[in-house]
Amino acid sequence: MILRKGRLKKDQIKKIAEFTSSIEEDRALAFYDIRQSVAHARALKKAGYLSKKEFKEISSGLSDVKKKLEKDPGFFGSGHDDIHMAVESELGKAGEKLHAGRSRNDQVACDVRMYLRDAVKEIVKGLDEVGDVLEEKISEPGIAGACMPFYTHLQRAQPINLGTYLELYRCWFSRDKERFIQLNKRINRLPLGAAAGASTSIKTDRESVAKELGFEGTIDNSLDAVASRDHVIEFACACSTIGTHFSRMAEELILFASKEFSFIDIDESIAETSSIMPQKKNPDCLELIRSAAGKLNGNAVSILTIMKGLPLTYNRDLQNDRVVFDSARTVIGILEIMPHIIRNISFNLKRMSDAAREGFTDAADFAEYLVSKGMEFRRAHRIVGELVKEGIERGYENFSDYPVKEILSRVPRAEEDFRDIIKMEEAVARRIRKK
Ligand code: ARG
Repeated sequence: MILRKGRLKKDQIKKIAEFTSSIEEDRALAFYDIRQSVAHARALKKAGYLSKKEFKEISSGLSDVKKKLEKDPGFFGSGHDDIHMAVESELGKAGEKLHAGRSRNDQVACDVRMYLRDAVKEIVKGLDEVGDVLEEKISEPGIAGACMPFYTHLQRAQPINLGTYLELYRCWFSRDKERFIQLNKRINRLPLGAAAGASTSIKTDRESVAKELGFEGTIDNSLDAVASRDHVIEFACACSTIGTHFSRMAEELILFASKEFSFIDIDESIAETSSIMPQKKNPDCLELIRSAAGKLNGNAVSILTIMKGLPLTYNRDLQNDRVVFDSARTVIGILEIMPHIIRNISFNLKRMSDAAREGFTDAADFAEYLVSKGMEFRRAHRIVGELVKEGIERGYENFSDYPVKEILSRVPRAEEDFRDIIKMEEAVARRIRKK
């Protein structure tokens, strides 16, 4: 309400004030807002706009607000327009000089950037931990070299090593980490000093403010500083990508834990039961991880849609960029439980290896064996395909079920060594390549 006194005669009606307020979403920004206000006040003092005494009063006022918030995060009531006005309203007379040379437009842009870069730190830490736990899992005895089928079209394809399978997730999460580290370079720049968007004649030392607040530099175009949210889009999309990775991983674990697969067992420490079926042990937390991607994608689409066609520069639409906080919290929440889930996966190695042998998963290796003996690949593919068809009719599961003699007499170029070469472990080992 402080802002209305000069320009307007009427009070805003309560419903409009409530509708336009961002105080609830802004609570997450409170400490950043206080920190940037201290830095701004210091810059005003340095530039001669605040006396030492005034600076002291403002900074001690800000530190009191901080203490109050630490004690009670709900300290600010809901009657504020946003966090910036809420903080300022606590400073009394001393605070009246604080807003010189800044606008809520550059202020909110600054807070959001500070929030996001901290979220990046947490996400990167979480991804590191997940990577470490995967590595530990892979190095557990018997895991890396164990055989399992890999699937294409959800049909058994060929035997592979469980180590290769688990390593895939490490590849995903290490790229996710890289993505966040890279986009953080674009987040971590200071918009403060742009004021409403046209910059300001109140000249503060932006480089020192950037340094004090831990930014890697300043945003030099003042319109860019207040109008742009591509860093928010990038962050939301990177959260979507992690979410997609976790969603696929969760789906795999859910499938693998089904009776039909029986590749893994759901640890009781993560399982849920059923209110009616006494036998049930359900993977609910994995289902929620699977579905979190939906929410994350929704948030990314939301910010993209808010930005599309938005006239320059600041518009209140931008207040809804805070959907991205939900993305950050969702991803951080998943990263907090993932290490426990991965650590406690128990693999049914016998079942996985049996499954890897069944369904003529050795067919491609057999065809490649014939190629190594000089046969054209297409011919080998046809001959092996025909044998698979016949084998299935006879109730065989793989080429080991065929009598050796029959193979030797029916398959040109097949020699005694074919059996060794299509032995599952050896066949897998022959395919493993580092480059
Ligand atoms: N609550 C606003 C937001 O979050 C702060 C900026 C308000 N600026 C304005 N020109 N009304 O975006």
